[in-house]
Amino acid sequence: MKALVLSGGKGTRLRPLTYTMAKQLVPIANQPILGYVMGHLSQAGIEEVGVIVAPETQREVREYLKDGKKWQFKITYILQEQPLGLAHAVKIAQPFLGSSPFVMYLGDNLLGSGICDAIDHFRAEPADALVFLKHVPDPTAFGVAELDERGGIKRLIEKPKDPPSDLALVGVYLFTPRIHQAISCIKPSWRGELEITDAIQALIEMRASVRGEILKGWWLDTGKKDDFLAANTVVLDEYTKRDIQGEVDSKSHVEGRVYICRGAKVIRSEVRGPVIIGPEAEIVDSFIGPFSSIGKGSRISNSVIEHIVILEQAVVDGVGRIEDSLIGRHARVTKGQRHTEALRLMIGDHSQVEI
Ligand code: TTP
Repeated sequence: MKALVLSGGKGTRLRPLTYTMAKQLVPIANQPILGYVMGHLSQAGIEEVGVIVAPETQREVREYLKDGKKWQFKITYILQEQPLGLAHAVKIAQPFLGSSPFVMYLGDNLLGSGICDAIDHFRAEPADALVFLKHVPDPTAFGVAELDERGGIKRLIEKPKDPPSDLALVGVYLFTPRIHQAISCIKPSWRGELEITDAIQALIEMRASVRGEILKGWWLDTGKKDDFLAANTVVLDEYTKRDIQGEVDSKSHVEGRVYICRGAKVIRSEVRGPVIIGPEAEIVDSFIGPFSSIGKGSRISNSVIEHIVILEQAVVDGVGRIEDSLIGRHARVTKGQRHTEALRLMIGDHSQVEI
């Protein structure tokens, strides 16, 4: 089985960050989202991975993934000149996919439980498509599946006003090559994209077998800032272990599950986990509250921060309190004259904010 990872797209909902970096490389608990995706493919024993890239972000995606050796597979990059839809990505990947069955994984989606079980089910009980589904509280915001009594998918509906179930489509799919035939039958949607939901619906109409695999673990889509922070919270909560490799001075207090990487320094500060502090980061005269990820080489001084993702080499100095925020690489947030209240920020790379 091969894999197709979608790492193109525009990432408009995560601007301004995505003006300067690929959405799939924004770190969660200091690891790019794509790192988690690749980890799951590697666990599932996939040996060949095609990665869809966009012209604007392909350089950094290639720099991060390289040839895939780190995950024990081989990567083939496939350039999608324009983000013309998920099914369009499959279409241009056809020469790479050939007649192989494949797993398609959206590069901005995170699954708690990996994909091994679903692949086992797909092999044990073959189908033309197996679609990952998750029970969600508000199905109107998602593609929703209507199932028959035997778990087969009867119908898929995009963002229904009156949802027939609470089962949302997760960004992972398993396909046999019949999907290519289905894609050749569909037309672009009103938004000008070849939609994968239309292709799966076409498969159903071709009387192919399309099944749902209901996920038990968590699923996180990182499309918007708040989803992204929620994903960071879940991942920190689930994986952070107390591990203090950097320096903590005698005037500091580090409580709970805090991972302080080698070369990081905590001086006259309090850190309350779950928190990750990246290599060479410095925390001085500050409070770092739960669910915070501080990127490599960043410096936080005279500030109170909580529930925040700070990317590499950013500076936060003298700011009363920042929470629920996402701060880009090399950004600087510093104190102006009259600032007192808590702030909520989304700041792109190289920005400068004086408060
Ligand atoms: P989306 O989140 O649907 O699209 P997007 O990344 O363009 O974001 P936004 O809606 O904020 O503008 O895409 C899901 C994943 O699929 C994401 O990792 C990007 C990728 N993708 C492609 O690789 N090619 C495409 O044509 C599209 C639409 C998405």
